[in-house]
Amino acid sequence: MKPRKIKDRIYWMGAVDWDRRLFDSLVPLPDGTSYNAYLIEGSEKTVLIDTVDPPMVDELLGQLENVPKLDYIVSLHAEQDHSGSIPNVLARYPDAKLICSSKAKNMLMDLMPIPEKSIITVNDGETITLGNKTLKFIYTPWVHWPETMVAYLEEDKILFSCDFFGSHIATTDLYVSDEGRIYEAAKRYYAEIMMPFRNVIKKNLEKIAPYDISMIAPSHGVIYQNPSFIINAHKDWMNDTPKNLVVIPYISMHNSTKLMIDFLVSSLVEKGVSVEIFDLTATDIGKLAITLVDAGTIVVGTPTILSGPHPNVVYATYLANALRPKAKFLSIIGSYGWANKTVEILAGMIPNLKVEVIEPVLIKGVPLESGYKALDKLAESIAMKHKEHGFK
Ligand code: FEO
Repeated sequence: MKPRKIKDRIYWMGAVDWDRRLFDSLVPLPDGTSYNAYLIEGSEKTVLIDTVDPPMVDELLGQLENVPKLDYIVSLHAEQDHSGSIPNVLARYPDAKLICSSKAKNMLMDLMPIPEKSIITVNDGETITLGNKTLKFIYTPWVHWPETMVAYLEEDKILFSCDFFGSHIATTDLYVSDEGRIYEAAKRYYAEIMMPFRNVIKKNLEKIAPYDISMIAPSHGVIYQNPSFIINAHKDWMNDTPKNLVVIPYISMHNSTKLMIDFLVSSLVEKGVSVEIFDLTATDIGKLAITLVDAGTIVVGTPTILSGPHPNVVYATYLANALRPKAKFLSIIGSYGWANKTVEILAGMIPNLKVEVIEPVLIKGVPLESGYKALDKLAESIAMKHKEHGFK
C-alpha cells in the first residue's frame, strides 16, 4: 500500500499482515494484524515513528522512496514488530538519529545492530521541534514492555501510542468504521498483551488524561478519530470489579467431567450467573483470554490423567496465571478414577491470581446424585459471592 494521508503532512505508512495467524508464536490472530509507522513532515525536520516487522521491510522502504531526508526515527517500543526494520531504515538514511526512551536504548542495541552514535534518548516529558510541529514524549511503561513511551504531536493533537490502544486486525480501513468489530479485536489484544500490567497501565491512562487528544494512532490496527471510544473501553476492562460471569475452561475424556460442566452451567444460570465455557481441545485461546478480562470466577474442569490434571488444562491454567485476570474466585471440578493430585497441582500453579478458592468438586467416575448436589452447592456459593461483592 502507498502512504496514506492522515492530516496535512502526516502520513500512515507500514504494512498490513493479512496472513499472520500467531503473534510471538503464541497469540492467535484470527484477523491478521498490521504494523503501522507514521511519517511527519515538519517545516524543518522529518520524522518516522516506528517501523515494521522485518519480513515486511520492503513495503516500508518502498513507501519512503519519495522521502529524500529523514532527520529522526522514533522507536516508541523496542519489540521487533515495530523496531526490527530500524537498521534497514538507518542504512537508507545514515544521518538520521534514532530517538528512544532511556530504557529502550540498550534493549534496541541488544536486539539488533544499531550504532550507539545514532541514538538519542529522551526523558519523560521531553519535546523535540520539527519546525512548525512539536513532538512530546510521554513515558508509558509496560504497554507492553518496560521501556515503552507514546508521542504526542501538540499542534495536531495526535497521540502516537504504539502497542497502547492497539488491535490485531488486518484491514484497508485507516480509521474505525465498525466499532463493534474493533471493540472485539482491541479487547482480545488488551487481554493478551496488556492485562498482566493493568495496574501500571491505569496510571498511564491517568497520565495522558490531561492531553487534548483528537486522534489516537496506534502501531497495530486502525486509527481512532473518536479517542474516548477506546479510552473508555480500556477503563471498563481495567475496572477492579469483575462482572457477574463465570468462565469454565475444561477438558473431558469420557464425558464424566462434561456431565459435571453441563450441570454446573445450568445451575449457575438458574441462579442468575452468566457463564462462558471453553472446551480446551479446540478452543481459541484468545477468546478465553477475552472472557477472562471480565470474569468474577474461574472454574477449571479437568479429568484426571496420570494422577493429575489434563496437560491442556495445565497450559490454560499457566496462561491464566500469566495474564493475571481480576477474577476473585476460583474452583476446580472434574472426575477421577483412582489417585488424584489435581487440586494440589493446579493450586500450585496460580500464585499470581488473587483468588479465594471455593471448595473443589472431584468425583470418582461418573457423577451421581451426591455429586450433583455438591455441584449445586458450588453454584450456590458462587452466586452468593458474586452478589455479596456487587458483581453485575
Ligand atoms: Fe506490537 Fe509489543 O509489540
